[in-house]
Amino acid sequence: MSNNIVISGGQWGDEGKAKITDLLSQRADYIVRFQGGANAGHTVCVGDKSYKFHLIPSGILFPDKISIIGPGTVIEPSYILQEITNLKEQGMSLENLRISGLAHVTMPWHILIDKAGDKVGSTGRGIGPTYTDKFKRVGICMFDLLDQKLLENKLDKFLPEHNNVLEKLYNLPAINKQEVLEQYLSYGNELREYITDTTQLLYIAYKQNKKILFEGAQGALLDVTFGTYPFVTSSNPIAGGASVGSGLGPTAINHSLGIFKAFTSRVGLGPFPLELDENSPDAANLRQDNTQWAEYGTTTGRKRRVGWFDAVLARYAIRINTYTSIALTKLDTLDQFETLYICNEYKSKSTGEIIKDIEYLDESILEQYEPVMTELKGWNTSTFEVNKFEQLPELAQGYIKHISNILEIPVSIISTGPAREDSIFIDNNIF
Ligand code: IMP
Repeated sequence: MSNNIVISGGQWGDEGKAKITDLLSQRADYIVRFQGGANAGHTVCVGDKSYKFHLIPSGILFPDKISIIGPGTVIEPSYILQEITNLKEQGMSLENLRISGLAHVTMPWHILIDKAGDKVGSTGRGIGPTYTDKFKRVGICMFDLLDQKLLENKLDKFLPEHNNVLEKLYNLPAINKQEVLEQYLSYGNELREYITDTTQLLYIAYKQNKKILFEGAQGALLDVTFGTYPFVTSSNPIAGGASVGSGLGPTAINHSLGIFKAFTSRVGLGPFPLELDENSPDAANLRQDNTQWAEYGTTTGRKRRVGWFDAVLARYAIRINTYTSIALTKLDTLDQFETLYICNEYKSKSTGEIIKDIEYLDESILEQYEPVMTELKGWNTSTFEVNKFEQLPELAQGYIKHISNILEIPVSIISTGPAREDSIFIDNNIF
């Protein structure tokens, strides 16, 4: 029986997945990114050092694990080379990094188009246009960068169309084929040692009963199919994306862990039913303004929008990910509140009907409801760095049990600070 896990965000990203991934990576043999690209940003704190990752799985911090950037990801070669250089400068070995030859390449036109045509508050990393070209079947794969003929053929076939879009639609200068060819072959050369068929690697690992951890980026509410469309990313961050984006089928994955912050945040545009006024004291407290953990994007530095915990959206995420348990992160953020709020239901503005489950997340549907807030007494004492459930204040234990009850799902891990040690395992056997 395999013992593999997928970890994915249950909200709009930034749930603290990196911390939990890092914790569980210690128990894994293989760590696999399966979707997204350098739009993601993870910070992992080890001792007094903090490491920032965009594309490379944080599993690279463990020299004995294989870290895979899978077929479903999109890669901007200069970003990943920069990330490799940074990690090497911090003394990391990149020997165990593998990049799928099938991953699509973010080309210069993708970034230009993303910035010029953005309507959702994207990260500007070219993610949407790269996936668009993949599905339009005019994209370039990582293995193309390893062979001059392949790359030149594709540029000959596709570049005129891309240049047409750049010039006619966006009034931007065309891309010069020779320059892009030379630049991307040179990237290919630099990345050659890492590029491989990762599906074979993973299948062999699976057959040998190795432990595989699939690391999602972004979150369920940003999923291109199930999220707050069109204010979403262009990939499938949900648990099911792990199979599609890695090439290892769903029967190989038996745990699905959803990561939720003890409140909610979002960057970029799009509906957010529980959003607090950004200037309110509660918003500033949830954002932890003026602390080193303040809620500002790792990738873009943007101030995150924040609100209380939304159980209606959490139920939706639990459903579409079929989570087996959830992790609650940033519990300590709530330490300073006298009163806490949770939204367990939405109320129809027109009929007064109360719902606990929502069917679609379209803005026009979400607008028809107002959140019904439950007031809870805050514990108002520090839970920072607490690592035993019994040592949490009773009211904090109650908050966690309440969330578990209303969502009808076990909470398996609680995070009370950025370091590995600041964690409570309620179920130590999930992986
Ligand atoms: P894109 O992924 O850059 O195309 O951006 C699409 C939407 O997803 C925007 O609202 C971004 O702010 C959001 N987004 C993308 N990556 C992340 C992430 O890692 N955390 C949170 N939001 C993200």
